[in-house]
Amino acid sequence: MALQTSLRFRPSLGALGARASSWWSHVEMGPPDAILGVTEAFKKDTNPKKMNLGVGAYRDDNGKPFVLSSVRKAEAQLAAKHLDKEYLPIGGLADFARASAQLALGDNAEVVQSGRYVTVQTISGTGSLRIGANFLQRFYKFSRDVYLPKPSWGNHTPIFRDAGLEVKGYGYYDPKTCGFDVTNALADISKIPEQSIILFHACAHNPTGVDPRKEQWKEIAAIVKSRRLFPFFDMAYQGFASGDIDRDAWAVRHFIQEGHNVVLSQSYAKNMGLYGERVGAFTVVCSDADEAKRVESQLKILIRPLYSNPPLNGARIAAAILNQPELRSEWLQEVKGMANRIISMREQLVSNLKKEGSIHSWQHISDQIGMFCFTGLRPEQVERLMKEFSIYMTKDGRISVAGVTSGNVGYLAHAIHQVTK
Ligand SMILES: Cc1ncc(COP(=O)(O)O)c(C=O)c1O
Repeated sequence: MALQTSLRFRPSLGALGARASSWWSHVEMGPPDAILGVTEAFKKDTNPKKMNLGVGAYRDDNGKPFVLSSVRKAEAQLAAKHLDKEYLPIGGLADFARASAQLALGDNAEVVQSGRYVTVQTISGTGSLRIGANFLQRFYKFSRDVYLPKPSWGNHTPIFRDAGLEVKGYGYYDPKTCGFDVTNALADISKIPEQSIILFHACAHNPTGVDPRKEQWKEIAAIVKSRRLFPFFDMAYQGFASGDIDRDAWAVRHFIQEGHNVVLSQSYAKNMGLYGERVGAFTVVCSDADEAKRVESQLKILIRPLYSNPPLNGARIAAAILNQPELRSEWLQEVKGMANRIISMREQLVSNLKKEGSIHSWQHISDQIGMFCFTGLRPEQVERLMKEFSIYMTKDGRISVAGVTSGNVGYLAHAIHQVTK
């Protein structure tokens, strides 16, 4: 039987003979990743003034990648311990997972105290979202539909779609004000079919930098309750929005206080600068500790055939920082430092645009928060910035403010003024 099959499906032989036989001639070239495409074009540009505002990674005021001092110290501690490299359990490093849940939900949160939650370590935020999506696909019996804000992070759609869920959207961003479209958001959410899944960015919405205010979150939580929607929080920027980790977790905590048993994805890529270490967590808030145990068992069953168990190094670093008061307070200061530098760059960009003589209101640049700013620039203006000024960003006009420095903010303002006047 096996022989027959192999004869029947023999691949075509290419000009070079047996070695060039192709199994994949039907595979079409896929489009390049939008953000990586921007980086490629940037790398090729020889203009010394070039700026890459596409990539979402923090840079210091010299435009250099930044490794936190708390991270360096944690690494030194770990190196001195000569630890082994054994496998982690399927759900990851327990000390990390517990500390991660506490960071998100609050040290004294009832959910944490009562143990009615489960947190597993994941492969950064992306891995967490995917485990979450797979878990919902397998066990959320009430709907297949997940509603994302319009727009949302570019990877949300493929993550949920590839997990077998149906992706839909709700109004979020108002291009007229470059702010939160509260009217449409509330109207759309009120119409979402009951028990659907709804995704929220916990803070520092990517790509718009626009977050609801506390009062608006309260209204959203109330509608989510009345429509019996299922809230999925993505928190990739805790601390990065305001500089204060508790303030940035306010929406998640408010939903839980209001009785929502949410699921939550966390990433330590941005707030600890652990991008390539791939440290994240996925949490399911349950009705009681017994339900949490059952959910945990099923998360492990999901994870085991995907990657068996998560990577060790980054979780050890994060656990060392979260669990030692001195390192933790140093880290919190550093998070504040990163957030403040970004806030200051927003303000400098606005004041430089005024100095250039721009008559437009750029208020939204300083009103928006987090790493990204939706400038409101149109695709043809983005194109001109790239061609004439070697300033690179995604076509939707999103800039990573983390790529702006005291050294280049003047040039950026000048260029934006030239293409918008
Ligand atoms: C909204 C959002 N969620 C999740 C992530 C996940 O990132 P990572 O997988 O690097 O933790 C990102 C990263 O850009 C993001 O912006």
